[in-house]
Amino acid sequence: MENTVVCNCKKVTYNDIVVALHASKTFDDVLGSFESVQKITNCSTGCGGCYQKVLDIISKEMMG
Ligand code: FES
Repeated sequence: MENTVVCNCKKVTYNDIVVALHASKTFDDVLGSFESVQKITNCSTGCGGCYQKVLDIISKEMMG
């Protein structure tokens, strides 16, 4: 599950996103965190098709 590739373009896994999220300083704001995660992992910089999936993971992690 953790090694599921979320972003096929950039080969970013669920776990990569979680790790990047915890390295992010803006842990209280989903869009700010998304930007940080994107900078670290390059996720959602290709076709953009994973955008919603990445946001969902960030929201879920922040609530959990
Ligand atoms: S699947 Fe993430 S940018 Fe294409």
